[in-house]
Amino acid sequence: MSEPKSTHIRWHGANVDRNEREALLGQRGCVVWFTGLSGSGKSTVSRRVEQLLLERKVVTYGLDGDNLRFGLNKDLGFSAEDRSENIRRVGCVAQLFMDSGTVTLTAFISPYQRDRDAARALVGAERFVEVFVDTPLEVCESRDPKGLYKKARSGEIANFTGISAPYEAPTAPEVHLLTDGKTVDASAQEVVDYLETRGFLEA
Ligand code: ADX
Repeated sequence: MSEPKSTHIRWHGANVDRNEREALLGQRGCVVWFTGLSGSGKSTVSRRVEQLLLERKVVTYGLDGDNLRFGLNKDLGFSAEDRSENIRRVGCVAQLFMDSGTVTLTAFISPYQRDRDAARALVGAERFVEVFVDTPLEVCESRDPKGLYKKARSGEIANFTGISAPYEAPTAPEVHLLTDGKTVDASAQEVVDYLETRGFLEA
């Protein structure tokens, strides 16, 4: 990670640490990082995971690609540089939520392995769960929930992931969701089961 622009700044430690917050909440903070093509089901599955965890009284928070681009990331587009900056900021925010003891779910295409690896390094590998929402391009394109693939094919949208911009599939995700032919519930349950086996759902 590059050095901050500011000089004469100093890191302040806290009086209350993550262990204490986690003991209070009865859970362990982590970042569940969904990655996959547009229309693969990242947001849908992550939202269902949040509902399932709420039923178990686990505190969660979801960060979503489209939504953050209305605020924190409103100055960013879809060039490779802007996507990297998007993911860098999301990684920073997710790290803060994780440190609060929250089970944090992020749903961003995050097409570059190096950007996902940087987020993993920032959060800490032991608290980072990469979930590859592996839905074939043909399926995403046939769903085309926002009509964007059609626009990408006609050239109306440039640099569209999977069509005119790259997607680097994860090589070693913690969870590999093969969603095709599976219900949203089944995919979400797979993620919850994984979080359970890793001990994040209790302190
Ligand atoms: S990322 O590549 O930087 O991780 P992010 O997840 O924030 O992308 O945003 C992706 C969403 O933006 C898509 O689901 C889609 O709705 C919209 N979008 C608009 N233009 C593009 C584009 N050129 N490539 C991919 N997604 C796009």
